[in-house]
Amino acid sequence: MYYIGVDLGTSAVKMLLMEGTGEIKKIVSKEYPLYFPQPGWSEQKPEDWWQAVKQGLKELTADCDRAQVAGISFGGQMHGLVILDAQDEVIRPAILWNDGRTQEETDYLNQEIGKEKLSMYTANIAFTGFTAPKILWVKNKEPENFARISKIMLPKDYIAYMLTGSFCTDVSDASGMLLFDVEHKCWSQEMMEICGVKESQLAKIYESYEVVGTLKPDVAAELGLSEQVKVAAGAGDNAAAAIGTGTVGDGMCNISLGTSGTIFISSRKFGVDQNNALHSFAHADGKYHLMGCMLSAASCNKWWMEEIMQTSEFVKEQEAVTEEMLGNNHVYFLPYLMGERSPHNDANARGTLIGMTMDSTRADLYQAVLEGVAFAIRDSFEIAKSLGINIQSSKICGGGAKSPLWKKIFANVLNIRLDLIESEEGPGYGGAILAAVACGEYDSVEEAAAKLIKVVDSVEPDKELAARYEERYRKFAQIYPTVRELFPKIS
Ligand code: XUL
Repeated sequence: MYYIGVDLGTSAVKMLLMEGTGEIKKIVSKEYPLYFPQPGWSEQKPEDWWQAVKQGLKELTADCDRAQVAGISFGGQMHGLVILDAQDEVIRPAILWNDGRTQEETDYLNQEIGKEKLSMYTANIAFTGFTAPKILWVKNKEPENFARISKIMLPKDYIAYMLTGSFCTDVSDASGMLLFDVEHKCWSQEMMEICGVKESQLAKIYESYEVVGTLKPDVAAELGLSEQVKVAAGAGDNAAAAIGTGTVGDGMCNISLGTSGTIFISSRKFGVDQNNALHSFAHADGKYHLMGCMLSAASCNKWWMEEIMQTSEFVKEQEAVTEEMLGNNHVYFLPYLMGERSPHNDANARGTLIGMTMDSTRADLYQAVLEGVAFAIRDSFEIAKSLGINIQSSKICGGGAKSPLWKKIFANVLNIRLDLIESEEGPGYGGAILAAVACGEYDSVEEAAAKLIKVVDSVEPDKELAARYEERYRKFAQIYPTVRELFPKIS
């Protein structure tokens, strides 16, 4: 049988067709526009996602026996607010995970409701990208839209709804809404009251590997697939990527270098970081995880190359950063192009290049951009260490993990071994695995991960280089606290 994993990302939707044995037969990617209507705002049209998914599914299954497709599931960009009216019309463009417009609502939640209460209700505090502050923003700034809300959805759940008619979500993605009691896996009555939301406006909650429905007859006919195809709830893209890299069970780590950059630590037990600097979320394997998320990771690389250098020759540009240059750069980059989430929680933070001299080269600046992203992930890594979590190695996935140079920088900045698995398609592969588990091909997510995920290569840190990066990280860590006060004045 075949299983389809849909990775509903920020720049594109990537879909993959997997055999029950785990072999990937085909990958299709479809891009859609991303809108920045104001500085710090970030929106997409759910209708664009749906058209891209339908087109992609048709292409993905064009040359296979479509009768063999048994299940579909997802890894989806998290936290986005999709609102539908009573006629199931999308009320306004989705407000995405990296949108920073909700500072006022975030401050209200953290300061007036208070972080302690939020953490007690949901295991997390408010960040501008989370869903609850966005609901409050619509309530405050677009009351006419707020009054029309019949259903509140996350991005991948909109696709599940269009495919099956089932108004559903999963525990991992629901965790990022700040409306969900993560420990007890149910909607928080207190948070619903605070946001002015009724339970009927929120989706039914499933574990990620549970079936939420089958294809609607008209959708099945349009896609040429059977009405028996099962759709599983799926997961937020980071939890799905963790499944796709075998990051399940206790104390396993995955770093994802997509548009965002995340460090994800799986845990069998529920736990909260006292300062809530790391998110405490449910995992797609039925357990829990901690996560740090930076808002601009591989997108810094793309921005530097395409917007600033006006080139798409990534390999050539990276070749100019030689071995000897690593750990010796005196230019630093704060990668806060969309503000920053973990650990600073500062929507006003901005990208910053500092330390240039007359002899600084194009390669030095590019190196600083790549290093800045690694240093920013190290900030969250340090918090995990301070909680007593001892990370010796991590998986790495996402578009950024394709670069040997960047992987080397990461391994040495973090001073850990990085393991690469056969497929770099973290969230899509995880989605397909969740579909396979939902259809009974495997008994559990842990069993599927143990059977399907193979480490094919590793990058070890080098003692001397790691020591040089240690020193540079200490300097990097002083820059944000020094310039922080300036950001609200210039942004
Ligand atoms: C995680 C987060 C991002 C998005 C990217 O909290 O906001 O990683 O899920 O799609």
